[in-house]
Amino acid sequence: MLSYRHSFHAGNFADVLKHLVQVLIIEALQQKPTPFVYHDTHAAAGRYNLRDKTSEKTGEYKDGIAKVWLRDDIPEVMETYIDIIQSLNPDGQLNYYPGSPLVAKSMIGKTQRMELTDLHPTDLALLEQEFAGDRKVRIQKLDGYKGINAMLPPPQRRALVLIDPPYELKTEHDDAIKGIVAAHKRFSTGIYALWYPVVSRPQVTKFCEKFTKQGIRNILRVELNVKQDTSEYGMTGTGMIIINPPWKLEKQLREVMPFLVKHLGQDSKANFKIEQLVEE
Ligand SMILES: C[S@@+](CC[C@H](N)C(=O)[O-])C[C@H]1O[C@@H](n2cnc3c(N)ncnc32)[C@H](O)[C@@H]1O
Repeated sequence: MLSYRHSFHAGNFADVLKHLVQVLIIEALQQKPTPFVYHDTHAAAGRYNLRDKTSEKTGEYKDGIAKVWLRDDIPEVMETYIDIIQSLNPDGQLNYYPGSPLVAKSMIGKTQRMELTDLHPTDLALLEQEFAGDRKVRIQKLDGYKGINAMLPPPQRRALVLIDPPYELKTEHDDAIKGIVAAHKRFSTGIYALWYPVVSRPQVTKFCEKFTKQGIRNILRVELNVKQDTSEYGMTGTGMIIINPPWKLEKQLREVMPFLVKHLGQDSKANFKIEQLVEE
């Protein structure tokens, strides 16, 4: 069942949008001096060597981070994210890409707690290795949704919960909604950021509609479509659903999305969407 390995996809256009949103939310949390928790339900490995055979096999990063990381017209909103990538690759060669746990760690250092869960033994071992000896980071082999139920609300009462399922199983869209609804009941003020792929447009439309019917308020959606929707197999876009987004996030996304469409778009139909799915 656990066939998904993020190393095949690390640094692709979906990672660029996801990790940018993650960075902007953490920056917003850092505006206040009170502690918060970074909780990653589907953490995966933490760091990816783009020169290893899995990354090179798909080369997905070439249509993602490789297209933007050295540009000299990076929008200000994207600077922290790009700095993280550049610090991992100080010689100007794109050899490494950070997973979401390392993106978070790069920003919060040893100041905030991190809760990381995953189920894949190989990726968990790599994650343990990445964070060995870091007492602020707890790594557990645990279903991501069981993890949020068990660990929320955090004692700090402030958190970003990143939910990044592989969507390999037919149930995973519904699992994500159910998991978030249950978590939100326990901790309604947390920030939840859920990633989704655009593979089938009808499925995305249904998914977003379902989200609006769960009694959860204040939901923002951002989507980057790098090419025209298709009924054939393949990811044509990527989105994030954010519950309780920081107040500046929508404005920041409006500033940066045209840049992403311009540089990551693959055909003339590339576009972005920013939509308040449910009002506050
Ligand atoms: C898309 S990857 C995560 C990538 C990571 N968040 C990042 O941005 O670098 C999805 C991960 O979810 C893990 N996974 C699959 N089902 C899970 C579950 N029920 N609970 C926790 N992790 C799961 C997979 O092993 C895989 O490592």
